Amino acid sequence: TLEITDLESSLATLRLAAPLPVINSADAVTNPLDLVRSLLAGILSQLVESSPEAAYRSVQLPNSIYDGDLDIVLPKLRPGCKAGELAIDLARQFPIDHPLFPLPFLEGVHWRVLLRVNTLARLLFPFILERGNTYGTDKKVGSKDPSSPKGARKKLIVEFSSPNITNEFHGKHLRSTIIGAFLSRFYESRGWDVTRLNYLGDWGKNIALLKVGWERFADEVVFQARPIEHLLEVYDQINNLFQPEVAASRQARDEAARNGQDEGQAQTEIENQGIYAQRNTAFKKLEEGDEEAIAFWKQVRDVNIENYKDFYSQLGIEFDEYTGESQVKTETMNEVEALLKEKKICEESSGAWVIHMQNHGLKAGTAVIRGRDGATTYLLRDLAAMIERSKKYNFNKMIIVAANDHNSLHFTHLHHILIAMGMKDLAEKIQHLKFNETSSMAETLGTGFKPQAILSHVEQAMSAGLEADAAKTAMFGNLSKSADRLSVASLLVHELSTRTTSAHSFDLSAMTSFKHGTGPDLQYWYAKLCTILKTRNGDVQLSDEDYDFLGEDDSAANLLRLLAQYPEVTRATYNSTSPQPDDIVKYLAGVTEQLADCLSDDEDEVDDGVKGETEAKAEQKTFGAGHLTLFEATRIVLENGLKLLGITPYVAD
Ligand code: ARG
Repeated sequence: TLEITDLESSLATLRLAAPLPVINSADAVTNPLDLVRSLLAGILSQLVESSPEAAYRSVQLPNSIYDGDLDIVLPKLRPGCKAGELAIDLARQFPIDHPLFPLPFLEGVHWRVLLRVNTLARLLFPFILERGNTYGTDKKVGSKDPSSPKGARKKLIVEFSSPNITNEFHGKHLRSTIIGAFLSRFYESRGWDVTRLNYLGDWGKNIALLKVGWERFADEVVFQARPIEHLLEVYDQINNLFQPEVAASRQARDEAARNGQDEGQAQTEIENQGIYAQRNTAFKKLEEGDEEAIAFWKQVRDVNIENYKDFYSQLGIEFDEYTGESQVKTETMNEVEALLKEKKICEESSGAWVIHMQNHGLKAGTAVIRGRDGATTYLLRDLAAMIERSKKYNFNKMIIVAANDHNSLHFTHLHHILIAMGMKDLAEKIQHLKFNETSSMAETLGTGFKPQAILSHVEQAMSAGLEADAAKTAMFGNLSKSADRLSVASLLVHELSTRTTSAHSFDLSAMTSFKHGTGPDLQYWYAKLCTILKTRNGDVQLSDEDYDFLGEDDSAANLLRLLAQYPEVTRATYNSTSPQPDDIVKYLAGVTEQLADCLSDDEDEVDDGVKGETEAKAEQKTFGAGHLTLFEATRIVLENGLKLLGITPYVAD
């Protein structure tokens, strides 16, 4: 591992102040901008006679590289000052000919710093190249579990995907799958010990309804041939018959409410007959452990898990545990229920057990623990599941990635009920990471498909996308093989670049295009860099001319300045209360945009039809060792970023 002493010796050779001022919030070993900020704070603290720590806090990162690399907020540096006067005063004493910091320039209250590219390159190249695949990660953070005597890493549970086995794999499950997998990798890159859970919707009245349908409509032969589709068909058939009964029960409830009668009673009368009654009996059998019912349920669960696993593996995703509503222990649920009754948190209402949420920190709402027919509910199972998980994993934090649909209210209830039960600690460790519930995936793909069909649609669109952009496609060689490999990248980037608050567009042609910032485009620039880098001879010692040449090329300089920000970007994402993967995607898209700018002279030749080998030769002439090192550093940043998104960067073979 790299230490602060390694840094200081390399700083000394660059005639930069060593030792570095000690600043607690700075992490100079992993973040080059922290290093540079610390150096600047060292200078500023002497000029204004403050502590380096205070000076450090006045130095911020501007919103864009067009506002410089660092931003000294003058009123923060000396509270109550007149910015203009302070700037003049500071300018008089600022070191002349500093190798890294030219004289900053004033803009409002900001004293802006544009780093000397020449020195920045000397600092940054070894910084990135030595760190390689750890550049932009920070494993120290997770290692600080204050409650662990042995200094174990912090434990995170990510619960994601969690489809319902009687039902289709929806757009919301796809989003949860991809966001959850990202968060898992991301926290691992910050040193956390991560466990991935899939909490299947594999218990409850829906399974019972499927069982009722199975008895009427099942066809063993069809089931053997295509189990998943057949189960969906059977479920649809029985559900169509069932829906009128659901409507009738609701109507009876509303009518009773209007007439001031018992609503539960009115519903029970309807639900004691027809498919309702059959379903409730079937569920009762399941909850009582009836052998035949359990065998049916197990078969359904097993074929589904096998099928999900196949799909997840195509996306490069693996779970540590397939748990689910069915796996919650009856004892735990009984314990939860007993506690709720003992503490008078829940009460009986028309034969059901409910919690009036206005007594527990919410304005209104009723949460049901046990139904009128005595069946457990989603909520009771979840309460028990949370307690079991906390015992089993003793986690520091749990993130549940689920849509902002019925689950939102559900998790709000869950949070407040845990607190009422005296488990505030546990309640506060659980975070519901929600995303917009609207998805247009079903509109695009239709219904009744296995999740694998999502990928085959993307792959088809990818073939078209490749055909539409001949210039970029040439980079990948074999077309059908590329369509296969690029489709996963296009899906992942599309899902991760949609902000969690935005609706899910599932736009096949957009995600598979080579427009700026798509998966295929990020892949394209990565592959292009690799082609160019074939001419690079390892880590050669760069000459002064190499650095000068680089410093004179504005687009190369801007690219370099962007690369310095990568650890800053990942850290900001980590520090946010709700990490947004699209911040990472946007950053990577910005890097490729700057890279394109840097290579644009050569792009003209490509557009004229000079491709492949000739292109490589042209670049060999154009780029000196300085540029090639810059491209290698860019390649490392792109690779690290893509891997964080779950993409294994690929180069045509
Ligand atoms: N199966 C649920 C759904 O599809 C999501 C599960 C969310 N997680 C939980 N612990 N309740 O809506």
